[in-house]
Amino acid sequence: MSKVVIVGSLNLDFVVQVATLPQRGETLPGSGFLTLPGGKGANQACAVGRLSQPGTAAMIGCVGMDVYGAQLQESLRAAGVNHRYVRGTMEASTGIALILVEASGQNQIVVVPGANEYLRPKDVTEALSLLSGTHLLLQLETPLETVTAAAAHARDLGMMVILDPAPARSLPEELLRNVNILTPNESEALALMGISGNYISLADAPDVARQLLSLGPQQVILKLGEKGAFLAMSEGAQHFPARAVEAKDTTAAGDCFNGALATGLAEGMTMDAAIAFANVAASISITRLGAQASLPIRAEVEQILTR
Ligand code: RIB
Repeated sequence: MSKVVIVGSLNLDFVVQVATLPQRGETLPGSGFLTLPGGKGANQACAVGRLSQPGTAAMIGCVGMDVYGAQLQESLRAAGVNHRYVRGTMEASTGIALILVEASGQNQIVVVPGANEYLRPKDVTEALSLLSGTHLLLQLETPLETVTAAAAHARDLGMMVILDPAPARSLPEELLRNVNILTPNESEALALMGISGNYISLADAPDVARQLLSLGPQQVILKLGEKGAFLAMSEGAQHFPARAVEAKDTTAAGDCFNGALATGLAEGMTMDAAIAFANVAASISITRLGAQASLPIRAEVEQILTR
């Protein structure tokens, strides 16, 4: 039985390293080019796969019938993820992402969704019923209609729904009321409140989290990068500082956090322990290049937690 089910995107990432991110109209030399497995959904699935017992994670998604799709399925398999419900479509090619990573570790990403747009509500509800999972991880790189149907069906099945509202956008109440844990980063949190921007101070975090709770989710975890994570629910709030590391590439750090959070909660960790576990996993991922390539295995996280 798969405990953690991930519904979401699979992209092949075209990664270029640059000294600094370009301005509009600027041409810059890049220092390296790699094609690596990514996509927010598949990244979260691989994070769960690497951190937990084989068979814990199952992914539901859609790829093209092409070589990129095969590469992404292989990456899931290698991480121990059940990918039986990643369907192939002839209607589009596999999703891709163009990613620029600068020396500070910050990035710019453009996604062409391709086959991810063909993941239908029916694909998800049928597979969810068969998988008997306990926790569902969602993000927003597949159609909103599909994400909304997945959350509603998962709640009917008694699953815990964890939504990463990425990429940033506003969301309907119909979806948010079925979310147990909402995990935005700074720009995503502000977008949900109808504000553009990408910075939230620790002093402002309680107010932002309170406003997000009023939209429907039971708990909010603000992912504040080097400022750590901020958990809020009706009974109170708590700040979890981040572990200081030298960032090489922040791509998929949020995905790693969510995969680790679900892993911990599915194993019965308390919320505090699961957030501490996720903070360490994400801190390891940002010291390495790439999305799935950067995700830690369990022993690496435990070695740091038991120091
Ligand atoms: O969150 C990181 C991911 O965003 C990348 O792997 C890229 O594919 C985009 O989906």
